[in-house]
Amino acid sequence: MKKIIIAVDGFSSCGKSTMAKDLAKETGYIYIDSGAMYRAITLYCLRNGLIQGDVVDTEALRKVIDTVTISFRLDPSTGKAYTLLNGENVESEIRTMEVSDKVSPVSAIGFVRKAMVLLQQKMGEDKGIVMDGRDIGTTVFPNAEMKIFVTASPEIRAQRRVDELVAKGELVSFDEVLENLKKRDHIDQTRAESPLRQAEDAYVLDNSHLTITEQKEWLIHLFQKITTGSES
Ligand code: DC
Repeated sequence: MKKIIIAVDGFSSCGKSTMAKDLAKETGYIYIDSGAMYRAITLYCLRNGLIQGDVVDTEALRKVIDTVTISFRLDPSTGKAYTLLNGENVESEIRTMEVSDKVSPVSAIGFVRKAMVLLQQKMGEDKGIVMDGRDIGTTVFPNAEMKIFVTASPEIRAQRRVDELVAKGELVSFDEVLENLKKRDHIDQTRAESPLRQAEDAYVLDNSHLTITEQKEWLIHLFQKITTGSES
């Protein structure tokens, strides 16, 4: 069967990655978490003193951006992919609140997006890929055969994020997470470069009240419809 590109876009913490990973597993496609790439660049900035408050030293970052490498590798023991920053496994560090808090200003920088988009397009050259993010169906792969735009209420998304962080042993308050999420939604939607928006030909999925199983069924049904033209 001919392989396609699946673009999954939407707000922070609305289950995009769970959905995209499930879909990749079901279809045998490669899963790419584009947010992890922006998070890795943010971690690089934090480690190298390139962020003060919410202000990024863009000129210093511009000078080094071409030397920063971001890649993914599959851990055969867990079957999960992890993110590498200049060859170092940074998978857990990029998920902390510290990185979440600074990632929006970094991902709003034009030359950062340009570099990441080129890398993402390269990863999708052979199709057979599920990529999640904010601008995958609009900017990275405007011709993707299957586009999904996921949404859920801010409160439901915040609770999901709190559960995720608490499970990892990070103590956070619901209010702190909700505030961070709303701030990121705002920056993501209003930035000049590739703002988060729904592609005109995207299928919208509001999963506020869907179980993971219901969501999976919805996705597989759509995938089959698109790849075979059949409804069953
Ligand atoms: O999906 P996530 O929450 O891990 O993404 C982290 C941040 O990266 C998010 O605040 C927005 C940004 N991002 C982006 O601007 N474009 C993408 N394609 C993916 C993520």
